[in-house]
Amino acid sequence: MSKKPLNIVILAAGKGTRMHSNKPKVLHEIGGKPILAHVIDCAKSLNPQKIIVVYGYGGEIVREAFAYENINWVNQAEQLGTGHAVQQAVPYLDDDANTLIMLGDVPLVDKTACESLVLSANNQLAILSFKKADPTGYGRIVRDNDLVTAIVEHKDATEAQHQINEVNTGIMAMPNIYLKNWLSRLSNNNAQNEYYLTDIVALAVESKVAVIAEITQDEWSVTGINSKIDLSQIERVLQSRIALKLLQHGVTLKDPARLDVRGTLNCGRDVEIDVNCVFEGNVSLGDNVKIAANCVIKNATIAANTKIAPFTHIDDAAIGENSRIGPYARLRPGTILQSDTHIGNFVELKNAQVDIGSKINHLSYVGDTTVGKNVNIGAGTITCNYDGANKFRTVIEDGAFIGSDSQLVAPVTIGKNATIAAGSTITRDAPADALTFCRAKEQKTIVGWKRPQKIKKPD
Ligand code: UD1
Ligand code: MG
Repeated sequence: MSKKPLNIVILAAGKGTRMHSNKPKVLHEIGGKPILAHVIDCAKSLNPQKIIVVYGYGGEIVREAFAYENINWVNQAEQLGTGHAVQQAVPYLDDDANTLIMLGDVPLVDKTACESLVLSANNQLAILSFKKADPTGYGRIVRDNDLVTAIVEHKDATEAQHQINEVNTGIMAMPNIYLKNWLSRLSNNNAQNEYYLTDIVALAVESKVAVIAEITQDEWSVTGINSKIDLSQIERVLQSRIALKLLQHGVTLKDPARLDVRGTLNCGRDVEIDVNCVFEGNVSLGDNVKIAANCVIKNATIAANTKIAPFTHIDDAAIGENSRIGPYARLRPGTILQSDTHIGNFVELKNAQVDIGSKINHLSYVGDTTVGKNVNIGAGTITCNYDGANKFRTVIEDGAFIGSDSQLVAPVTIGKNATIAAGSTITRDAPADALTFCRAKEQKTIVGWKRPQKIKKPD
């Protein structure tokens, strides 16, 4: 078993012309994460001593996007071929290590296949291949029984070689001492005038180093993204794999084809998710949580037995057990709801902490607010948290009742068990256990008043 250190070189200098985008290809997202991030994550899972990314087009933007990763960046200013790309990484390659070469535009790359390749590469060149019904465009694997004798690029292949349907994935592994030697001997004397990495196979054969190819059955795991069509197909493949895992785990998905997980979704037992829900970042759903159709939920924790009604948007929030949210609720960052809370339609919460048993059922904005236990906030209540320059907090203590259509102008505290009469604009603290009013003084009635009539337009 190989215990040699591992270097990983990721080729990501390609321009991605067919994406028709100003964004570097490898920054387009699959499952809410840049294509290259998938490859880097797989690379990291192999515990390499170092990762080297060969970048080119849009390089600085790519580097910035991964500034948090421990990566050696190598610029390939001119893209003269895959062999030339790996040559740029040579200064980083350790003589006592093996190198695994990965492609930055293959997001579903499979860890197990890479691991196996690395193990096989201890004293030989190991290539990951696959069988393609239509191999046009790919490098063909030329074999002599178990051993590979060459990889011939499509444009350089003979008619007979065009019939070979085992093709090169581009992913390969080998000892660095060999690799460095082979790279120094590449030429661009071929149909594309490129330095082909694949020419190292012939050089290995020449230097009596065995070359093997391991065939993967999972074509998606070696499929590169070159266009928005590829991007959309791979996205669906990833999503159907995520959906399958959730189903296997016991989650009920009303339609596995209408679910999008762009991050991590952890589910307890007996979770149900209706159609067209999008989960982003880290989302965790407790036992018996039900998510109705058309919800968008990002970075959230939803505890057991809570029901989220349709069209609810949750972003950076935590919801306690036995709660009911939505339909059409919007929970913005910093929202923390304890158990048994009810948040109804057209209610927006931002940085609001709501304690056990409280209800905000209709048409309200509650921001920068602490809500105690068993509070009832009536329809159309607004916390006026912003004076145009600064934000202030509202505190609503346990048992308070806020009448409909009230404005609470922060900073303000509504005392324990206080009642605010409907239609009040509260600018000073309201004492506990009392009814506070703030309305026009008198209610007037004009007897005989007539409603305006519609003015008839001349014919
Ligand atoms: C290459 C292989 C081919 C294989 C195919 C699999 C060679 C010569 N050919 O073909 O055998 O079947 O991949 O998809 O290796 N890149 C650079 N710098 C360059 C050129 C490419 O970084 O100068 C990167 C690209 O960003 C891409 C990868 O290398 O991630 C493969 O390049 P691409 O042009 O897509 O591959 P082909 O030459 O078509
Ligand atoms: Mg090419």
